[in-house]
Amino acid sequence: PALQNAPRFKSTKSRAPLAFALDIDGVLLQGSSVIPAAKRALDILQGQNPLGIKIPFILMTNGGGVTEEARCKKLSATLGIEIAPDQLMQAHTVLRPLAEKYSDHSILVLGGKGNKGREVAQSYGFKNVHIPLDILAWNPTIWPFHQLTEEEKSFVQSTDFSKTPIHAIFVLHDPRNWSLDIQIMTDVLRSPHGVVGSEYVPTTRRYSHSQSAIQLAFCNPDLIWRNEYHVPRFGQGAFKEAFQAVFRAATGRNHPFTQFGKPHEVTYKFGEKMLHDLIYKPVSEGDIMENEKDIPPSRIYMIGDNPASDIAGANAASWSSILVRTGVYDPAHAPPAHQPTYEAEDVEEAVKWAFERET
Ligand code: G3P
Ligand code: MG
Repeated sequence: PALQNAPRFKSTKSRAPLAFALDIDGVLLQGSSVIPAAKRALDILQGQNPLGIKIPFILMTNGGGVTEEARCKKLSATLGIEIAPDQLMQAHTVLRPLAEKYSDHSILVLGGKGNKGREVAQSYGFKNVHIPLDILAWNPTIWPFHQLTEEEKSFVQSTDFSKTPIHAIFVLHDPRNWSLDIQIMTDVLRSPHGVVGSEYVPTTRRYSHSQSAIQLAFCNPDLIWRNEYHVPRFGQGAFKEAFQAVFRAATGRNHPFTQFGKPHEVTYKFGEKMLHDLIYKPVSEGDIMENEKDIPPSRIYMIGDNPASDIAGANAASWSSILVRTGVYDPAHAPPAHQPTYEAEDVEEAVKWAFERET
């Protein structure tokens, strides 16, 4: 019976827990292909290790575009082990606590395929969620180069945007129609109080700050990321550069924004809380609560493929960092811009090295 109530993860010996944060793209997956070392690394964390115990880990990705539940279902099937939603942090997971603040306000979300961005925001509790295609449906002349497909007509929501002030724009994942999204973002951000139907002079060099009361946030700063293609692909960071270049050409300045995602501190703080809850939160009534101790940051191992995001963020958070060669980073090009604690061929070697070092 005691075992039934045992916490999900026992800490190693009497020491504080050892924990891992695994990046996804370029570490576990390349696009839809599973990196061979990933399964072996996850087996070690699931208990196939000298201590014979499960080691707590989360997946910490700048990716996203679907709900955590949907992504976990797909990841569990692809990786062949159960990944629970409380083990997955996507680029936009940090937005979940913000839903309350916007309960009476309209927001515009970008990114993700079709209606998926709206579904993510609604799954966090945001109530009045719009997507750029809703605005196109309201007035097709706002961007004459895209006609709604039959599928898009099935999920766009009809709203009179001349009466709907938008209070925040969240770029959750990679936009699929950069030109439409940049036009709509600019219309919203430059319209007084975010009422997209109102007049403004499109190329005013002067840009009054009062109009920037609308929060603009990007959830993933990655300029590049790695899928099956042999050269890294442009990520959401590239979209941000494109938006700011157009906005600057029209107004003479960048638009202020908030940046979430690795390497930013807010993301790593969120990851520490997830790991803490994973280890200490009772899973069911009557669970034995391990004597709660903070996890020393150095006992959290970030395993990533992108020095600019994974390694930079882990180093800044005083975590241990391991850079692998199966993604963006290629030792043949140049030394890493951010020095990891250790450099490994792949995620299996990384987990084995950390395990030997810490137990
Ligand atoms: O869009 C995902 C990409 O930016 C990188 O994802 O898993 O390597 O943080 P990840
Ligand atoms: Mg990666």
